[in-house]
Amino acid sequence: MKPIRLDKFLADSGVGSRSQVKSLLRKGAVCVNGKPAQKPEMKVDPETDEITCREILLSHSEFYYYMLNKPAGYVSATDDNTAPTVLSLLKNVPGRELFPVGRLDKDTEGLLLITNDGPLAHRLLSPKNHVDKTYLVHALGLITADDLIRLESGIDIGEKAPTLPAGAKLLSVKTNNGRAVSLVELTIHEGKFHQVKRMFQAIGKPVLSLKRLSMGTLLLDETLAPGEFRMLTDEELANLRA
Ligand code: URA
Repeated sequence: MKPIRLDKFLADSGVGSRSQVKSLLRKGAVCVNGKPAQKPEMKVDPETDEITCREILLSHSEFYYYMLNKPAGYVSATDDNTAPTVLSLLKNVPGRELFPVGRLDKDTEGLLLITNDGPLAHRLLSPKNHVDKTYLVHALGLITADDLIRLESGIDIGEKAPTLPAGAKLLSVKTNNGRAVSLVELTIHEGKFHQVKRMFQAIGKPVLSLKRLSMGTLLLDETLAPGEFRMLTDEELANLRA
């Protein structure tokens, strides 16, 4: 690939507008091959030079992919008048028009993919593709073998058809203030509105807390504290696209 100006590379990578790019360069936020670079006219080779902005490696690509460990209290939307959005946790990161892939409820934690790759998001969310989603569920009450069978074989949650067969595993039961609290790992292959909460409601064991552990091949990086994020690795992205 032909060398191009650093400011053009940065604008193409989505770090900001032309004036934001100028300001980032002035502040020394950009490095080329590990050295601070401040000249907009500097020539870089997008294929061989390693260019970072605030220590995030940039690609000469319009698409960016972030894994967020969503904390409770944030809505999965690009903007909202009532509560902070998941995007407010990714301020000043490269990528124009980022959005969350699907929704987790405001009180749900865990894996959320944030990207600006519409076609990939569409593929992951399409009901036709039955992408697996695994959740860790704290539910009030003692989950019985019969409950697990009902969760697994499909259950009436008030939709036209029962839920699709799912995977349900009881991990533990603890007592909290004299009440049993069951920890269940649930894998579903669809994504109806409030699906997990409605499935547990249907067996009379309401959800106390919910955390998403995986979506398709993408697993939550447990080193990310709630509210932290990182870019997907090349391998994670390749697996997700496959
Ligand atoms: N199911 C729910 O009920 N809530 C979520 O946030 C995700 C799945």
